[in-house]
Amino acid sequence: MALKNDLLLRAARGEKTERTPVWLMRQAGRILPEYRAVRNSLSGFIELVSTPALAAEVTIQPVDILDVDAAIIFSDILVIPEAMGLPYQMVEKKGPFFPETVKTQSDLNKLKIADVASDLGYVLEAIRITKKELNNRVPLIGFAGAPFTIFCYMVEGSGSKTFSKARKMLYQAPEMAHQLLQKITDSTIAYLKAQIEAGADLIQVFDSWAGILPPNQYEVFSVSYMKQIADAIQEVPKTFFAKGAYFARESLAALDCQTIGLDWNMDIKESRELCGTKTLQGNLDPCALYASDKEIEKLTQQMLDQFGFEKHIANLGHGVYPDINPEKVKVFINTVKEYSSQKND
Ligand code: CP3
Repeated sequence: MALKNDLLLRAARGEKTERTPVWLMRQAGRILPEYRAVRNSLSGFIELVSTPALAAEVTIQPVDILDVDAAIIFSDILVIPEAMGLPYQMVEKKGPFFPETVKTQSDLNKLKIADVASDLGYVLEAIRITKKELNNRVPLIGFAGAPFTIFCYMVEGSGSKTFSKARKMLYQAPEMAHQLLQKITDSTIAYLKAQIEAGADLIQVFDSWAGILPPNQYEVFSVSYMKQIADAIQEVPKTFFAKGAYFARESLAALDCQTIGLDWNMDIKESRELCGTKTLQGNLDPCALYASDKEIEKLTQQMLDQFGFEKHIANLGHGVYPDINPEKVKVFINTVKEYSSQKND
């Protein structure tokens, strides 16, 4: 069955579209009171992630309420470490916490490559329910963390400004780091393929901690593993978003993928030059949504003008912040739709 709105997929493939598609990273959860109502009826985030019917419900909320051009499956990048044998907790107001981390070779040997059907079947079921309930209105984005970002959490055990415990392993035990990265990569490829089989129309890989590595290490410990993912997934368009990796835009653009995500520090014109013919996604400053409606309109129009009106998927430069008023998000979305339609007339 054909999608009624396939703007996202056409823009990703570099085709001309009537207007610029728009969605927001972290649109499911975080900002909508309707999300919090569902979440508060449960023991917490992890119960919501692992209850397919409810995960599907909160996946579709932003499509109904904000009228975005894509849904992104409600889950988390940390389901992969869990499936490999390293469970996480989500601590209220603090974020993820791993009671056990990877410190030694024997910790690493105990980890398995995720058995997607049995360990991550709940995500696949959530995708199948979402696809059915979306009824082809908009495409569904599947996702995973980049191996390096997942590695950071598995070694560090929690969020961190520096991830220096994780980075220490790159210097003290690089072989072990590579073995862990390979296990994560193998798990991630199997997971993304299963998401596509369950119905994901496009996949996005989030390298949220890309910006903490020097360029030479970024190539060796991150890009090379993302390359394996890019080469292995051929079924649907792929987006790679590496926050802070302004120094690696050219090598990211050399990956076999359709779209490169930009954060808000990255200059648009320079990124066009570095990324060649790839579609670009982004990159309004998430804090711009604290501005007045008029200012949001102005900043969004400026951003659209800089990207030009093709090979662009409008988004923020990172996930929407939790205290942003959904009305401001609507101003952003409506401005993208109206302004880019006018410009395409
Ligand atoms: O985009 C979407 O809306 C889909 C769902 C989604 C979540 N996490 C749900 C979530 C996606 C795509 C993610 C990705 C994710 N998770 C990333 C990469 C993207 C990025 O922002 O850089 C990272 C680094 C994580 C790890 C993670 N999960 C952290 C650090 C936290 C705590 C702080 C936070 O971001 O809110 C989470 C929890 C989390 N994941 C929440 C949601 C809706 C909030 C938990 C809650 O409802 O209590």
